[in-house]
This record gives sequence, structure tokens and C-alpha cells, in this order.
Amino acid sequence: MDEVLHVPVLVEETICNLVDEKTEVFVDATMGLGGHSYEILRRFDRIKVVGFDVDEDELEIAKERLKEFGNRVFILRENYRNMANALQKIGIQMVDAILFDLGLSSYQLRSKRGFSFQEDEFLDMRMDIREEVTAYDVVNRYPLTKLVEILRNNSDENEALRIAKAIVNRRKTKYIETTRELAEIVEKAKRKKGRVHPATLTFQAIRMEVNREVENLKMGLVNACRILKKRGKIGVISFHSVEDRIVKEFFKNESSLKPVTKKPITPEREEILKNPRSRSAKLRVAEKV
Ligand SMILES: C[S@@+](CC[C@H](N)C(=O)[O-])C[C@H]1O[C@@H](n2cnc3c(N)ncnc32)[C@H](O)[C@@H]1O
Repeated sequence: MDEVLHVPVLVEETICNLVDEKTEVFVDATMGLGGHSYEILRRFDRIKVVGFDVDEDELEIAKERLKEFGNRVFILRENYRNMANALQKIGIQMVDAILFDLGLSSYQLRSKRGFSFQEDEFLDMRMDIREEVTAYDVVNRYPLTKLVEILRNNSDENEALRIAKAIVNRRKTKYIETTRELAEIVEKAKRKKGRVHPATLTFQAIRMEVNREVENLKMGLVNACRILKKRGKIGVISFHSVEDRIVKEFFKNESSLKPVTKKPITPEREEILKNPRSRSAKLRVAEKV
């Protein structure tokens, strides 16, 4: 069942670089369906895992899946940007290793919340349904300049202005409600059409805005540094250049961290063949000094 819902990426590489026999507390900042946590709990019987996620549905599945590990698992429905406080509340001050596996799970992509333009769904895109702002609000209410800014900053979209203008133009006559409507507007607006669907970067940018992914990642990394023991490790798996840049810069500039690998770790060919979603994954690891 688990394989079908979401296949975790770079599992061996993550475990090799973040965990060993001396690890006591491991924080899974993006627990999702618990793929990475499961493997860690299974292989190291002394480790306790604290998992964070904002997606209630996923955490229900993770809970069920990890229940065999009993009180070695704590699951918190909490944004990882607040991890230091949340851990303190359960009596944990410092931890040995922290993993951020960024982006969306395959389960979320199919969750009918408007993350994918493969189906025609309402433009929601919230990972945390307690939040108020949806993609519908971003697309129909943001001013032109703000739309251009998020398309450029969140996805390096080259045709940001053309796309933003097309969105603003359409919504003068009709609100844009569904994924297909948005994808068609972008497809028509873009001059350059490459191998990937022309709306891919727009969807990424809007999803990142709705879920405040850049801000969360920056705050999450700062929080992670605060609670990491000396010689503890942080690992971040990112899936696109905007995320990877933030992580790379943070590891370089944060004086309490030393990058463990100069270049990011990428999946072996075999993994990419088995799980094509892994092809853009990059793992960066840093150590607390
Ligand atoms: C790629 S998935 C993780 C998959 C997980 N490693 C597994 O094997 O099942 C990324 C997860 O991060 C969660 N997420 C995104 N932003 C978050 C945040 N600020 N705080 C907590 N969880 C977050 C998403 O809801 C999603 O479940």
C-alpha cells in the first residue's frame, strides 16, 4: 500500500549521512506518510523519531504505519518552522539529526486539492487546510506586480509578466476557479513551449506562495540549527533550484554549520528508473560545529 501512495527518495543516502548507532533523537520535519521515518525506526532500534507535518490526512496514514514502533514515535501536526518550541513542549531540548524532505508527496498530488493540472480540480493547493489563503485567492486577488514577483522568485519563470497579464486579463471577465482553466491560460500565454508542460512552473510558484514555502524553509533551517546537538546533522532534500539555492546559501553562511558534502547528493540511475519523481532530488547535508 505504502509504495503506491508515495515512494520516499534518497533513503539510503539520507540514512548513511544523518543517522548512526549513536543517534538518539531524529526529527523528521516533513513526515508525510512516514517513508523515511519507517526505515530509520526499523533499522535502528534505539532511535526515537519526532515527526512534523501540517497535512492531517497524511499524518493519519503515518500514525497507522508507524504504530508498530510504539513510544519511539511522536507525531506532531505542526509547522516545522515552530519545531524548537514544539519539541520543548514535549520535553526535548536537543536532537541528533533533522531531515527536511521538501515539496509535495505523491499522495498530496493526487489528493484532489488542486496541486496538479492533470485533473480538473478547484484551485486550493493548501497542504495545511487550517490556513485561509488558497490558490484561488492568489490567482484571483493578487495584483499584477505581486503575481509577477511570485512567478519570478518562486520558480524562475522567464515569461512571468506575460503569464501574470493573461491571468489578470481573464479574471476581469470570469474568476479562475480550476486547475485546467489556469493551465490553459498559461499554456496560451507562453511563447516558449519546452518538454515539460508550460504551466509546471506557474503551479509550483503558486503552490509555494499558498504554503509560504520559502519563508517556512528559511525559518525551519534557523530553528533546526538551534536544537541540533554538536556534531548533529541536518539533511535537506530539495526538488528544484529555488529551494536548493536557499539551502546551499544557508549552509554556507551559517557559522554554526559545516557542509558535509560540497556537491549535493543525487539519486542513482537505478532509483530514477524505479521512481522517476526522484530525478530532480538533491540532498545536502551539514554538520553542527
Ligand atoms: C515530500 S513530502 C515528505 C514525504 C516523506 N518523507 C515520506 O517519505 O513519506 C513533504 C511533506 O512536507 C510537508 N510540509 C510542507 N511544508 C511543511 C511545513 N512547513 N511544516 C511541516 N510539514 C510541511 C508536506 O505536507 C508533505 O507531507
